[in-house]
Amino acid sequence: MAETAASLDRTRRRFEEALSQALPAESDWPDTLHRAMRYSLFAGGKRIRPLLVLAAAEAVGGREEDALPFACAVEMIHTYSLIHDDLPCMDDDDLRRGKPTSHKVFGEAIAILAGDALLTRAFHLLAELGSTDEATPSPSDDAPARRRLAALALLGAAAGSQGLVGGQVLDLESTGQEIHARTLERLHRAKTGALLAACVRGGALLGGGGRDDLERLERYGSAIGLGFQVVDDVLDATGDAQELGKTAGKDQDARKATYVRLFGVERARRFATELLEEAEQAIARFGPQADRLRELARLIVERRA
Ligand code: IPE
Ligand code: IPE
Ligand code: MG
Ligand code: MG
Ligand code: MG
Repeated sequence: MAETAASLDRTRRRFEEALSQALPAESDWPDTLHRAMRYSLFAGGKRIRPLLVLAAAEAVGGREEDALPFACAVEMIHTYSLIHDDLPCMDDDDLRRGKPTSHKVFGEAIAILAGDALLTRAFHLLAELGSTDEATPSPSDDAPARRRLAALALLGAAAGSQGLVGGQVLDLESTGQEIHARTLERLHRAKTGALLAACVRGGALLGGGGRDDLERLERYGSAIGLGFQVVDDVLDATGDAQELGKTAGKDQDARKATYVRLFGVERARRFATELLEEAEQAIARFGPQADRLRELARLIVERRA
């Protein structure tokens, strides 16, 4: 276990190095924007999503370097979504990743633009990769190229109007309303689950996974994707700002639609544990090369921040 934690840390560091290289330097024009982008990206996120991408690639026997750009793109999209989620017109939060939120430091306009630029850079990065290494295409090289394109498309769908953004709309529309459990599940799967599931699917695709592997990982991703937001709801109700790096107790104050609001802390926790079991089952047939995914699923459900 300690060994896995140390090796996760090493992977995290390799990822952060790649992430830094995937962005313009802080001093590049327009420096205010690039400072804002880096400020939020390197404020100390847990990097669960990129770690999932790399772990899914590993589970199907793929190489880390083939999945690293996708991992960077996902973290850029996730970070943009946090910057916008914290804006006064959204959740109106002052603290994120243990630091003042982007709009508190750079002002609302630059925070919005930093989010826009991170989202755009994510797709630019992946498209660039596809366009530079196809100089001498041959039929045998075709499969990786198609896989990269498919990963790009699934990321777009997960981040878009019927994924993350749609989920944020449903989140806003559900605030202060009595909503059905089915609507809440849909909301959580869209605003948070879709991107996490895309990490697993994208990583497995880029790692060269076959159809059976992809199907199993699809079930894993779907379970941990929903579980992630259920736990986020629980932590908002039970954690503190020091530990979470973001203001606690906001959901209740804002009358947000959450699992805690609908079912209470205990049932929400139990549901998250069931989802963990579902995820573990989905990948039970994988050997030790899926241990990273097992470790991450536990981390997602048992985390305290
Ligand atoms: C927080 O995500 C936002 C949600 C989708 C619940 P994380 O808990 O992964 O935040 P960071 O990246 O570690 O800051
Ligand atoms: C955020 O959900 C989901 C996205 C950013 C897409 P929350 O609003 O619950 O996330 P936190 O609690 O602010 O991190
Ligand atoms: Mg929100
Ligand atoms: Mg929020
Ligand atoms: Mg939350």
